[in-house]
Amino acid sequence: MIDPHQVSVFRPGLLDGQVVFITGGGTGIGFGISELLAELGAHVVIASRKADHVEHAVQTLAARGHRASAAVLDVRNAEQVKAVVQEIADRHGRIDVLVNNAAGNFYAPSATLSPNAWKSVVEIDLYGTFHCSQAVYPVMAAQGGGRIVSTSMTLHYRGWPLMAHATAAKAGVDALTRTLAVEWAPQRIRVNAIAPGPIPTEGVKKAFTPPADSGAADVFATAEEKMAEYARTGIPLGRWGTPRDIANMVAFLASPAGDWITGAIFVVDGGEWLSKGGRQGMGDG
Ligand code: COA
Repeated sequence: MIDPHQVSVFRPGLLDGQVVFITGGGTGIGFGISELLAELGAHVVIASRKADHVEHAVQTLAARGHRASAAVLDVRNAEQVKAVVQEIADRHGRIDVLVNNAAGNFYAPSATLSPNAWKSVVEIDLYGTFHCSQAVYPVMAAQGGGRIVSTSMTLHYRGWPLMAHATAAKAGVDALTRTLAVEWAPQRIRVNAIAPGPIPTEGVKKAFTPPADSGAADVFATAEEKMAEYARTGIPLGRWGTPRDIANMVAFLASPAGDWITGAIFVVDGGEWLSKGGRQGMGDG
């Protein structure tokens, strides 16, 4: 059997000539996506608020002979997003794939969540997805089509204490995905989302470690033994996910195999959320 972590199941050069714009693509799951799409031949424009993250990612890919460039922006700022998209379109003449991967969250009790804390997460996750999608629309429409893939999550499929802001925002991302899919189908823009399961990247481990006074510390402690135990008991397919698990789905959707797929939200989580019922586990992404 082919191990998708060792050998790409996609043909070399599959995305040759394509231009990808990915937000939050410098670290974690986002970098896994940037890496695979660049390996398959795309030029990947990696955007983030943090210049050091994107520059390091671009250098890493360039050192392997891949095509990548950096953009610094905050997805909450529609004008910044528009300016970056215009720069990409001017330089490359097209944008084939937008990956809305930038997200922010933290565990916090809803009773005391500040208005600004709520706003920060909803603006990054939901407004950011809309700003980027709207900004690429004219470019994709003019070139006869494109693919938008947004990162959702599974937490809002049930109640998820301490995550009101992120669950509300990601429910909005799902709704936006379905609506834009139908609204922009005449322009041949396919709009889909992926709901990743638990992937223990450094950023997620940190984000998922609750404040000591939140009352969830015992559930979400991230000791290695506890993670291994969780993989055995909480994930039907028996292991934590990897960025490549998610990247493979993005590559599939970006490829001609995704040609007749729009408005779909793909859960890629080893069966975790289905098996969990109402229980909280160690983490979702
Ligand atoms: N609990 C409660 N409130 C929190 C919080 C936490 N753990 N972390 C941030 N906030 C609040 C801040 O206090 C602030 O509200 P205030 O102005 O009323 O005090 C508000 O959220 C914005 O915080 P700020 O630090 O200015 O963040 P930002 O707007 O620059 O970025 C995040 C927001 C979500 C990206 C940032 O909080 C963060 O880095 N989170 C963890 C990393 C992460 O999310 N990684 C991605 C995982 S998918």
